[in-house]
Amino acid sequence: MECSVGYDSAMNQTIIVTGANRGLGLELTRQLSRTGHEVIATVRKVDEADHLADLAHEIHELEVTRPESVAAFAASIKGRPIDVLINNAALGGVLEQHDLEKMLDYFNVNALGPLRLVRAVLPNLRAGQRKLIVNISSKMGSIEANQSGGSYGYRASKAALNMITKNLALELEGDGFTSVVIHPGWVKTDMGGPNAQITVEESVASVLGVIGQLSEKDNGSFLDLDGTMLPW
Ligand SMILES: NC(=O)c1ccc[n+]([C@@H]2O[C@H](COP(=O)([O-])OP(=O)(O)OC[C@H]3O[C@@H](n4cnc5c(N)ncnc54)[C@H](OP(=O)(O)O)[C@@H]3O)[C@@H](O)[C@H]2O)c1
Repeated sequence: MECSVGYDSAMNQTIIVTGANRGLGLELTRQLSRTGHEVIATVRKVDEADHLADLAHEIHELEVTRPESVAAFAASIKGRPIDVLINNAALGGVLEQHDLEKMLDYFNVNALGPLRLVRAVLPNLRAGQRKLIVNISSKMGSIEANQSGGSYGYRASKAALNMITKNLALELEGDGFTSVVIHPGWVKTDMGGPNAQITVEESVASVLGVIGQLSEKDNGSFLDLDGTMLPW
């Protein structure tokens, strides 16, 4: 697919961004708001999100591992059309290979979290114009591209997110939805670390360029930040 930089649109859209308090979520909120979109930003601690006050249209509490938190968030936006859901929140870091119990945390945040949210806000998305679900995944979730191993929890949970997204794409395509996973690059955030290849500004401008161009023909794709296809 073709890619432009940034997400300008003739029509202002309402967009949910999870994990909006820092890293890519914060920059997604900043760039989307700057281009006139209404961002519903979610964070785990609203009382520590003062820095979002001037950026987001509104700020909501959301802990994606807790069904009651997801339900409360969905209830707070009940009846409102949402154009785009960006499932960005995730757990990163290197997991000791044998810490199997900790792996459950990765699955809970990175794979089940986005699915919980899709299920909870599906009525809002059905009422929206774009019917777009963007799950921020990672090249580290690609089985084919895995050349170095390690990071069991993160890799496996992102591979699970990829499968979940493909399932959603198949389940919802008849209803006019587009569901994709996007790799944002290796980015200088708390998760990506200081040696990462690109800044949050660069990553988000490119990712939003891709999101801006998405249409139903992209349904079920695993896309790099420049819009090219990644291997599953
Ligand atoms: N940075 C990279 O190089 C890179 C590369 C590939 C993919 N990605 C993906 O890009 C996305 C954003 O990454 P990032 O680098 O911006 O990460 P980050 O700086 O570590 O930020 C992670 C965000 O997720 C939130 N979060 C974590 N657990 C949560 C939970 N249980 N419920 C709700 N929110 C939760 C965090 O909130 P708190 O502040 O409350 O912890 C924070 O807002 C992730 O999906 C990541 O996997 C990043």
